Amino acid sequence: MFSKVFPLSVALFSTFPALASSLEEVPANEGGAIQQIVRMIEESVRTEAKNGAAHRDAHPKAHGCVRAKFSVLHKLPKEVRVGIFEEFRDYPAWIRYSNGSGKVQDDSVGDARGMAIKLMGVESSESVTQDFVMINHPVFFVCNAADYVEFQKALSEDNIFKFFFPGLNPFRFRLHEFGIANAIKGKEVTNPLDIQYWSTTPYGFGDTAMKFSVRSCSAPSPFGETSSPNFLRENMWKQLDQGDACFDFMVQLRKRPMEMPIEDPTVEWSEEDSPFIPVARITIPRQEFASPKQEAFCENLSFSPWHTIPEHRPLGGINRVRKTVYDTVSRVRHELNGEQRREPTGF
Ligand code: HEM
Repeated sequence: MFSKVFPLSVALFSTFPALASSLEEVPANEGGAIQQIVRMIEESVRTEAKNGAAHRDAHPKAHGCVRAKFSVLHKLPKEVRVGIFEEFRDYPAWIRYSNGSGKVQDDSVGDARGMAIKLMGVESSESVTQDFVMINHPVFFVCNAADYVEFQKALSEDNIFKFFFPGLNPFRFRLHEFGIANAIKGKEVTNPLDIQYWSTTPYGFGDTAMKFSVRSCSAPSPFGETSSPNFLRENMWKQLDQGDACFDFMVQLRKRPMEMPIEDPTVEWSEEDSPFIPVARITIPRQEFASPKQEAFCENLSFSPWHTIPEHRPLGGINRVRKTVYDTVSRVRHELNGEQRREPTGF
């Protein structure tokens, strides 16, 4: 089933030199902050693995990995015929749904919900895949690498409040970030196939930048039971047992650079200034996705914003952090589990 694979040993960094694009502004101390973050996260993965298998440091709980078709729409307006959306064609895709917390916990606990899409057969990407990684909120709650160091420290001490309220000085409170984190935790989700997801961080779109989002286009699902600890997986399973699901994939172009920052994903880009434009349709056919073989395959996948074609290069400080973090965590967890790291090429 998953035999056609592409080895990940290809250097991930060669297509995108460390140099920032002309849209980015890299703070002087960012390299040191990224090293600190990578060190803390790698240590956390290795420590956790002492109690069993190694897992993702974030989003370890999967609701399931499903097979999908990603169809670029026909006759798109010229301004969005860029990169993946230049050619009217279908891509086979894997999609992984997840909870954000580093702890595997009951789905009733407030949390970010993740949706990570992997298109296959993308020849102009070094990994031959194009990943779109999203959560169910339009903005992220950390603005840059330096702040992420503080967030990761607070997380390591199991005291995330310390990140938002680092002392008694109110000028150092991160109230805007606290509001975002609370909004994310407060969202009620009963079925991962029913909702909207956003990239939160910006990406290249030819000469300009975009954010992207996917919104469910399925009829509202009748499966809303929330009593079991894994109700998100169960409701998804019930829906796909009965029929297909669908999502619209949309891009939002950066029309007003001053109001649409590249370096701060805590700022929402106004939909009034630039509405999301549908550019592809995702179809998830009726299927059974919960077999042990598919679960193991799902666990061993690696999604990263840096699995991409050059036209959709990840932008901004948070994405620059993710470049080394996702690659390191994926490498370490595969090594510790004695698994080979591969990009899938089909179903
Ligand atoms: C500096 C900021 C961030 C750090 C350090 C970070 C860290 C991580 C790590 C370590 C993983 C697991 C990677 C693996 O083992 O394969 C991961 C997965 C994930 N992250 Fe992030 N992340 C960051 C920002 C974000 C943002 C802004 C989003 C929102 C779009 C996001 C959404 C996700 C999702 C959905 C997954 C699960 C991917 C999958 O299904 O495998 N992360 N993150």
